[in-house]
Amino acid sequence: MKAIEIKPDIFWVGAIDWAVRDFHGYVTPNGTTYNNYLILDEEPTLVDTVKSNFAEVAVGNIRTLIAPSEIKNIIINHIENDHMSALGRFMELTPDASIYVTERGKKGMERYFDTSRWNIKTVKTGEELKTGKYTLLFIETPMIHWPDSMMTYVKEAKLLISQDAFGQHYATTARFDDEFIECASHAELEDAAIDYYANILMPFGKLIRSKIEQIQDMGIEIEMIAPDHGIIWRKEPERAVQMYLDMAKGKTALRIAVIYDTMWQSTEMMTLPIMQGIRDEGIDCKVIKLRATPMSVAIKEFWKSRGCLVGSPTLNNEVFPSVAEFITHLRGLRPKDRIVGAFGSYGWGGGAIKWLYNEFQNMKLETVEPGVQVIYRPSSEDEEKCYEFGREFAMRVREYHKDYE
Ligand code: FEO
Repeated sequence: MKAIEIKPDIFWVGAIDWAVRDFHGYVTPNGTTYNNYLILDEEPTLVDTVKSNFAEVAVGNIRTLIAPSEIKNIIINHIENDHMSALGRFMELTPDASIYVTERGKKGMERYFDTSRWNIKTVKTGEELKTGKYTLLFIETPMIHWPDSMMTYVKEAKLLISQDAFGQHYATTARFDDEFIECASHAELEDAAIDYYANILMPFGKLIRSKIEQIQDMGIEIEMIAPDHGIIWRKEPERAVQMYLDMAKGKTALRIAVIYDTMWQSTEMMTLPIMQGIRDEGIDCKVIKLRATPMSVAIKEFWKSRGCLVGSPTLNNEVFPSVAEFITHLRGLRPKDRIVGAFGSYGWGGGAIKWLYNEFQNMKLETVEPGVQVIYRPSSEDEEKCYEFGREFAMRVREYHKDYE
């Protein structure tokens, strides 16, 4: 790759990771990119680094513009390994550079590196760094998505370097939204952004809303959003902001996900009449078998759907293990603004449905109860019950959060 100019004298100097398929347990079928940006100014300034095994790629990109030893400032917006683990390599090349990071970021950085000889400057929201013709404004974004996180706004370029926010895991030669849409589609780009939000940012909707409102209140005009993963939003950054505001409010399409696992196909057999009942109410339905689907995909499908039915057989009086795993992931993401129900099969004791409703209540999700369960194998009467349950659930979903329309 080579450095790519995104604004006058501001360059993408990151790395494309075509091969990564497991991003700390989050499946990345399209790979990802580690974006970082070099501002060529009186004081050359690097914003973020990359994952350490791509350090030489980023260094090579920078060398096409300047010698890395000329970098005077390094901004670290976020200390997670995919953005900071190459910092040690950069500090070898330019040991006198000043590092700008939040107070929490500095503390974390000290756990990863021997920083005793580094010139680290901590920054807060509203503080600025003048690099020459450009002014960098720092905006702390704690818990979006780590306590150390911040964004860097380049005032004269109206460029928001947003770290993980607005990012997507997508390895592509396209660097900008308009380029990507031309070779793929807007729907694919949005799906990648939703996938990222669902798996990383879902718990922080309230914070995201208030942070976007704070940025708007600060009078910050955004012409371009450059995240640390995936595509840079240059054509329609306002569309990305609106998408985030909508997701932060919990808004989603009128759609239902049926997420299940099965032992001897009885629970699986129940999904067909349930799905038919949903479809007969005119609502789109996606059916996900957990053992056939990566967990992060199931989470995305949950998030993209206003309603979700979770199906599980009972095993040893408990919920099926893969369903418990899904619920554990979901619980950690603190979902809101979704309506849920449960179904399943059992042999003699039951237990899975009760377990699921208990979990739903703990998550404070709106539920449609009591769900439907069958013993051993669904009979034709059971299938009729499943069909009616699907219809009833679809009717409830249609009435739920009509304000999303
Ligand atoms: Fe892309 Fe939170 O690291």
